[in-house]
Amino acid sequence: MPWRPLSMFLLVTTLSCVLAEPMPRITFQRGDPGRSVKIFNHEGIRHYDRFLLSEDQQKLYVGAQDYVLHFSIDNAGTLEFKKHIHWPSDQKIISNCVSKAKSNETECLNFNRVLLPINNTHLYTCGTNAFSPVCTYINLETFSMYESDDGQIITFDGRGQSPFDPQHNNTAVMVDGEIYTGTMYNFKGNEPIIFRNLGTKTPLKTETSLGWLHPDASFVGSFNLAGTPAESKVYFFFQETAREFDFFEKLTVSRVARVCKNDAGGDKVLQKKWTTFLKAQLLCSHPDGFPFNVLQHVAILHPEDPERSIFYGVFSSQWQAGGSSSSAVCSFRLKEIERVFDGNYKEQNKESLRWTANTGQVPNPRPGSCVPGKFSDTDLNFMKDHFLMDEKVSPPDQFPLLIKQGLRYTRIAIDSVPTDSGNYTVMFLGTEKGSLQKVVVVNDKSFHIIEEMELLPNQEPVQNLFLASSKRMLYVGYSAGIQHVPLANCSVYTSCFECVLARDPYCAWDVQSRMCRWAQSKSNTLTYWLQDIENGNPNSTCLTSPPKGRTPASANETNPMTVANYTAKYNTILKLKCPQRSTLASYTWRHPLLKSSEKQIVTSQDTLVIIVRGDTLGLYECWATENGFTYQVAKYWVKDPSGVEVTHRDSQNMDDSNMDTSLYGNGHSYYTHFVVVSILLVSTLFAILCFVLYNWRDKLKAKTKIQGCSTPETEKLSDTTRLNGICHSNRNIPRVCCVPMSGADSTMDVDNNTVKLRTPNGVAAEDVSDV
Ligand SMILES: *[C@@H]1O[C@H](CO)[C@@H](O)[C@H](O)[C@H]1NC(C)=O
Ligand SMILES: *[C@@H]1O[C@H](CO)[C@@H](O)[C@H](O)[C@H]1NC(C)=O
Ligand SMILES: *[C@@H]1O[C@H](CO)[C@@H](O)[C@H](O)[C@H]1NC(C)=O
Ligand SMILES: *[C@@H]1O[C@H](CO)[C@@H](O)[C@H](O)[C@H]1NC(C)=O
Ligand SMILES: *[C@@H]1O[C@H](CO)[C@@H](O)[C@H](O)[C@H]1NC(C)=O
Ligand SMILES: *[C@@H]1O[C@H](CO)[C@@H](O)[C@H](O)[C@H]1NC(C)=O
Ligand SMILES: *[C@@H]1O[C@H](CO)[C@@H](O)[C@H](O)[C@H]1NC(C)=O
Ligand SMILES: *[C@@H]1O[C@H](CO)[C@@H](O)[C@H](O)[C@H]1NC(C)=O
Repeated sequence: MPWRPLSMFLLVTTLSCVLAEPMPRITFQRGDPGRSVKIFNHEGIRHYDRFLLSEDQQKLYVGAQDYVLHFSIDNAGTLEFKKHIHWPSDQKIISNCVSKAKSNETECLNFNRVLLPINNTHLYTCGTNAFSPVCTYINLETFSMYESDDGQIITFDGRGQSPFDPQHNNTAVMVDGEIYTGTMYNFKGNEPIIFRNLGTKTPLKTETSLGWLHPDASFVGSFNLAGTPAESKVYFFFQETAREFDFFEKLTVSRVARVCKNDAGGDKVLQKKWTTFLKAQLLCSHPDGFPFNVLQHVAILHPEDPERSIFYGVFSSQWQAGGSSSSAVCSFRLKEIERVFDGNYKEQNKESLRWTANTGQVPNPRPGSCVPGKFSDTDLNFMKDHFLMDEKVSPPDQFPLLIKQGLRYTRIAIDSVPTDSGNYTVMFLGTEKGSLQKVVVVNDKSFHIIEEMELLPNQEPVQNLFLASSKRMLYVGYSAGIQHVPLANCSVYTSCFECVLARDPYCAWDVQSRMCRWAQSKSNTLTYWLQDIENGNPNSTCLTSPPKGRTPASANETNPMTVANYTAKYNTILKLKCPQRSTLASYTWRHPLLKSSEKQIVTSQDTLVIIVRGDTLGLYECWATENGFTYQVAKYWVKDPSGVEVTHRDSQNMDDSNMDTSLYGNGHSYYTHFVVVSILLVSTLFAILCFVLYNWRDKLKAKTKIQGCSTPETEKLSDTTRLNGICHSNRNIPRVCCVPMSGADSTMDVDNNTVKLRTPNGVAAEDVSDV
């Protein structure tokens, strides 16, 4: 059944507006001290594209442009540069490449595309070598390449193992000394193959003339579950244009393909070709049908146990939803993939050219079933055009685990994190904008975006993620270096409340040391750890009674906050800041009840702006409500200049309903204006409204993006002192500013982040957006 992009577009736009868009709880900008990263870089070495961890996890090998590097990893996960091999292309090959109208600066170089272990003493590596792919061995004892006596590097033809063009995606996996690759086989880049080579087995290829792969196939991953009952098969993941649907529009589909290790090729039919190649479509669609059909990358969880093995893929769409790119994460169980490969084949009717399920006789043993033995020529002829499975592979709950509008994910790395309440899956998702999101999967169904880190300069898309769980580190290779991203920094959460609300499986609140700490180092049995990944409920977690012999956490430990006292002259402006760390929380101010109805207090984003007057003195508190839980984050006393304690006449015995209001913006609703519109119109308008809101929200998001924890120390108060308003704070508190004013009856209006002061002398405007 053909998809209808336009109706889907509307549906998705509408849906994205109705369903709350998942947001990272905290976003750390580049250079934020709360999520600092170390960077390795080296003059002249670029494009750190391939990573390989040694078996003892002490060494990391990195394939870069014209180089292969060797690092040791210390206990903190920091890379220590040891040795390098310089492996540029020959001048002759470069000039040949340039003569074919390729760039000497971005293409005619040796981009590393394969770096795999072959045995205990050697690595196997391939590079694009200026559109002339080559491979060679690296001796690990000396960390040098396979060389002739006169020091020349000896190389082998790398066709079918490395692509020609560095833009082309490839994949490779080493199995029993044989390399299995998926890549482009020719210079033009229109002949993809799945290839086996290197060992003692017959080299095998996919058959080009039979259309097993579409000329635009682009490979994103390959796997062999070595050491498990499933080790007899090798899986490939890729995207390609589909042939099996009759559309006018070019339709991309995502695929998983499978070949058998014991395949020896045919004798007369399918000589030196796979006789076990099968492929199936991967389905990843929004519940309304919008297809996320383009597989970007894939990672495996539990490769050690085929019963539990599950692939996580990041998908984008060939179409745009709401004018911007969107992404989804779908998971596919190995068992489900196997079930589809055991089902019906698809076949093409020679006359109508339509693809239908094959329901006729199937050879025994089934083609592609990896049983030992030779197939007859008749069976092989059947195999030639029965390589596509009729059924599609769907995620366990049919639908994506995560859908994100307005952002394209490019890479995924996956970890399983053991905790007291079970093992949690954590996904690290690289984005097209150079950032990384960390997401926890709860109950295989729901998810929570713990944090986002902006990592790469110039919004370079994340192309290489390498997870080293044992080192608690994620390495991000990019054009200019390698970033070392610790899997978590638990100490950014300074209270039990925050530690629990963060829902980071790597972190838990340690009651003994009263810190949010890395939870997997629970060696001290005396320590009492608090964590609630499932619900993130700090109420039940942090306020439970501790075990015998422990003092309960005091209020300032469960929930420390910004506290300050200010004295300011009358008629000065005072800005009070509410540290808004979580995008998932809503923040409200409680402040003294005003006597007059004039606007003495306005809120603008995270700042409360007040005119200091008799009736604005008193206690100001900022409260956060997150996950149904309310807690205080800031508390300020504003006192009169004499420094005399002001007990505001109302502030002591105000009831909650009076306190818990932010002054403006609530109360008015224009809803009734809309109700008049007829039902039919409403639905149309709604879609349009959503579309507008959707675009507008992106802008708004950019403006109101919450920053990671900026330290108060970095804020200078010098601007304050330059002004002649008197403003003292007894602590170095974030961003307080005083502006002198004249006239006793000033009021304020807020409009577009600009505070307008209505004084008897006229209107003065002050921009508060930079507060
Ligand atoms: C973790 O966060 C704390 C508090 O913000 C900061 O002092 C520390 O440097 C951070 N550590 C890392 C590795 O980012
Ligand atoms: C590429 O070629 C241009 C001229 O053909 C030359 O100026 C430039 O230096 C070359 N770049 C490199 C990296 O060799
Ligand atoms: C490892 O592989 C290399 C390259 O094929 C070979 O020269 C070497 O002898 C092998 N070493 C062992 C211990 O098998
Ligand atoms: C390589 O893969 C990326 C997705 O990861 C895709 O956007 C790009 O088009 C692919 N390149 C080619 C040449 O197919
Ligand atoms: C959690 O993972 C560990 C291995 O890391 C495994 O031994 C254990 O059985 C798992 N627990 C659960 C509840 O799945
Ligand atoms: C928390 O309050 C207790 C007293 O209730 C005090 O001893 C302790 O120093 C305070 N801790 C912090 C971090 O302010
Ligand atoms: C601020 O003022 C309040 C009330 O006057 C007082 O209880 C508190 O100790 C003061 N706090 C600081 C940090 O000076
Ligand atoms: C949290 O606990 C307090 C009492 O300890 C209770 O009054 C409040 O309703 C609880 N809030 C939630 C959201 O459970």
